[in-house]
Amino acid sequence: MNITIIGSGYVGLVTGACFSEMGNEVYCVDVIDEKIESLKQGIIPIYEPGLEELVKTNYQNGNLHFTTNLKEALDNSEICFIAVGTPMGEDGSADLQYVEAVACEIGESITHDMIVVDKSTVPVGTADKVDKIINEELKKRGEDYKVVVVSNPEFLKEGTAVMDFMRPERVIVGTDDADTIEYMKNLYEPFTKNHERMILMDVHSAEMTKYASNSMLANRISFMNEIANICDEVGADVDQVRKGMGSDSRIGHSFLYPGCGYGGSCFPKDVTALIKTATDHGYDAKLLKSVEAVNNEQKYYLVNKIKNILGDDLSGKTFAIWGLAFKPETDDMREASSIIIIRELLNAGAKVNVYDPKAMTSAREFYLKDMDINYCDNKYEALDGADAMVLVTEWKEFRSPNFNYMKELLNNNLIFDGRNQYNTNFLEKNGFEYHAVGK
Ligand code: UDX
Repeated sequence: MNITIIGSGYVGLVTGACFSEMGNEVYCVDVIDEKIESLKQGIIPIYEPGLEELVKTNYQNGNLHFTTNLKEALDNSEICFIAVGTPMGEDGSADLQYVEAVACEIGESITHDMIVVDKSTVPVGTADKVDKIINEELKKRGEDYKVVVVSNPEFLKEGTAVMDFMRPERVIVGTDDADTIEYMKNLYEPFTKNHERMILMDVHSAEMTKYASNSMLANRISFMNEIANICDEVGADVDQVRKGMGSDSRIGHSFLYPGCGYGGSCFPKDVTALIKTATDHGYDAKLLKSVEAVNNEQKYYLVNKIKNILGDDLSGKTFAIWGLAFKPETDDMREASSIIIIRELLNAGAKVNVYDPKAMTSAREFYLKDMDINYCDNKYEALDGADAMVLVTEWKEFRSPNFNYMKELLNNNLIFDGRNQYNTNFLEKNGFEYHAVGK
């Protein structure tokens, strides 16, 4: 099949690379010239396991093309995916300016019938808007091609996005058009072979499914963070509580890990956008507002704990931050808890050493650009002369560090663990003062 992917960011690139891997002819389009040029050279703008290989191989074997010329790509395709950004607008709703601009360009450019797929996370009603914009443009040109706008939200997790695309748990397709359903079934068949993984529904329900899923997951995390905070007060251990709860098959074990707050490009933005959609329709989404409020507070959890133990004035103290990315296996720092933790430590007069296996460049160049902090080459360098280690992202390389060496490097054997990675008894036996979440 011949496919155009509009937007070569995280979602677009993974989608394009995975479709091309199955033998489809894929045109990845972006407006940024330099991005397209570096993609041609196999330089991937993000760190995502497996993606670079996939892009390089399929570019070299001619299945995957990179271009800034949308019209040419559309001329060669019977389907196009809109995978441009939908950042949070000032009022909390998803900013649709890029989606709308793309819809306009599709209407101006196509020369035959087209299936248009919304892959970006967009509020309910966006497919209708896209449809209207395209048809208005066609009308201006006096053309009458059949355009079907489908909602096909992505459920990719950063760090495992390629695997998630290749072996999806479900593929949501929102459309009522019979030919389009047939086409989408064929397109996804190689990924869902031997299993019925496609769930068909109307377009509004498909759009809503994405928001409802992410909000549900965010809800579980905020719920567990609240339970952890109560555990702190009553002297219970949230890790034991979590195991006890998760073994009920109705609850299950996944996404019950308390910590120093969720971040990333999806949960914070999508929860806020759903609250806004609800408000716009006259509904007060009380539960979702609490999910958001609990998370915003949880980002201060570690700093509050540090201040409880060391006092509000942290001048003269140095902290070693292990992990900056919003989660392991990514260099993404969007909405990462590390940003708030570091800012608050600096505001309290502390010095901060940081180390992350992948996110150092984005921290230096963007997220922590204006902060006076010490970037270290490895996790042990960050500990040298520090008063405490603060674990913010649970990268594998932090799981079993050399604790004896850590003691030599640290001024105080003090660990604040925002992701409950270590064994309390083991650390205490080995002479550490250990503070985790909800224990
Ligand atoms: C999420 C959804 O999982 C994915 O389906 C959707 O398409 C995009 O949003 P992602 O943002 O990549 O994916 O990360 P995810 O692994 O879900 O983690 C999000 C955040 O929640 C991270 O900050 C993580 O540390 C935190 N988290 C996750 C917890 O604090 N506790 C948990 O139990 C799970």
